Amino acid sequence: EDTKMFKINDNYLKLPGSYLFSTIAKKVAAYKEANPKKKDQIISLGIGDVTLPLAPAVIARLHSAVDEMAVKETFKGYAPDLGYEFLRSAIAQHDYKARGVDIAIDEIFISDGAKSDSGNIGDIFSVDNRIAVCDPVYPVYVDTNVMAGRAGDYNPATERFSNVIYMPCTEENGFAPELPEETPDIIYLCFPNNPTGATIPKTELQKWVDYALEKGAVIIYDAAYEAYISEDNVAHTIYECDGADRCAIELRSFSKNAGFTGTRLGFTVIPKALKCGDVTLNSLWARRHGTKFNGAPYIIQQAGAAVYTPEGQAQTQEQIAYYMNNAKIIREGLAAAGFSASGGVNAPYIWLKTPDKMTSWEFFDYLLDKANVVGTPGSGFGPSGEGYFRLTSFGSYENTLEAVERIKKLK
Ligand code: MLT
Repeated sequence: EDTKMFKINDNYLKLPGSYLFSTIAKKVAAYKEANPKKKDQIISLGIGDVTLPLAPAVIARLHSAVDEMAVKETFKGYAPDLGYEFLRSAIAQHDYKARGVDIAIDEIFISDGAKSDSGNIGDIFSVDNRIAVCDPVYPVYVDTNVMAGRAGDYNPATERFSNVIYMPCTEENGFAPELPEETPDIIYLCFPNNPTGATIPKTELQKWVDYALEKGAVIIYDAAYEAYISEDNVAHTIYECDGADRCAIELRSFSKNAGFTGTRLGFTVIPKALKCGDVTLNSLWARRHGTKFNGAPYIIQQAGAAVYTPEGQAQTQEQIAYYMNNAKIIREGLAAAGFSASGGVNAPYIWLKTPDKMTSWEFFDYLLDKANVVGTPGSGFGPSGEGYFRLTSFGSYENTLEAVERIKKLK
């Protein structure tokens, strides 16, 4: 007999299956176990994880910061609540002022990455908010709202949650969400987009800002892939749009622009002009940050600051160019093989249509078995991702070429 008195957060029980990338890792591990001879041939273009080592300028700064920690006079304990000023100043200068945007350093909150921030940001919002998400979407936005009890119930038939507004992004609309018919309170946007690799011009982003201001909604803008933008008409930060400081929170990451996936560093911007009545969201996030988080490590914040030096900029831009060359190889290779594929111009992701009406998971199994290439099934990102598949350009050049050759031979 179960005598437990405590209660769990049973919103967790509404989540169908495990986290997308955990499911994929388990499937690949099972395949390797069942096919030991193929184990070493498998090329992963699945999870968006970088493969190039950290830039020399970053490594040098890590070393010097470690040495500081060894000396009484320069040792650091807890970091300041919002993060070190040297890093927040560099961000304000390089990511915002250089783009004509004024963000004060107390509007920047350093964290251990955009994944945590995108999941945690819900803490400062009532459970009584209706969220809108692109479909397909980075699963963290939906899953964390499910955990908070904001998503309603899951309908396995539609693969949708009852209280979430889904904004389909498909070939028909150029993978760009349309303003929803029902009015959301919180709108999640990610540009350049994960998973589709699509972007929208700044003029279109302005329409979202205008819409949010008109409806009294807040936009949670994930700009983790900003460094991959190659076209001039795409905004690098939502604050390039007029009025965004009154309706948008921006999430940024060092993972994709400087290879910090394993090193962990990111930040969130909440302008003080963003208010609900008299209350600034900045003050709520500061309260949350101070209470639940003890800062990214000093050495990592130093490493992050090194990204903004001239050497750091040159070296990380070289890494981005390397990945974007992979993106080109994948995009052109897929096109040559007769696939319909998009993305990879302003983003490190290529989004392809599965051949022969295969489902996303069927194509996953097929590609894994026949080409020993791992990708990400589009349906894992939402029902409108069914029939699509994502490949990342974060592999090595050699593996990318090899993967594309193998895919070409399938056709
Ligand atoms: C992805 O593959 O979508 C990324 O790894 C997501 C992330 O950065 O957490």
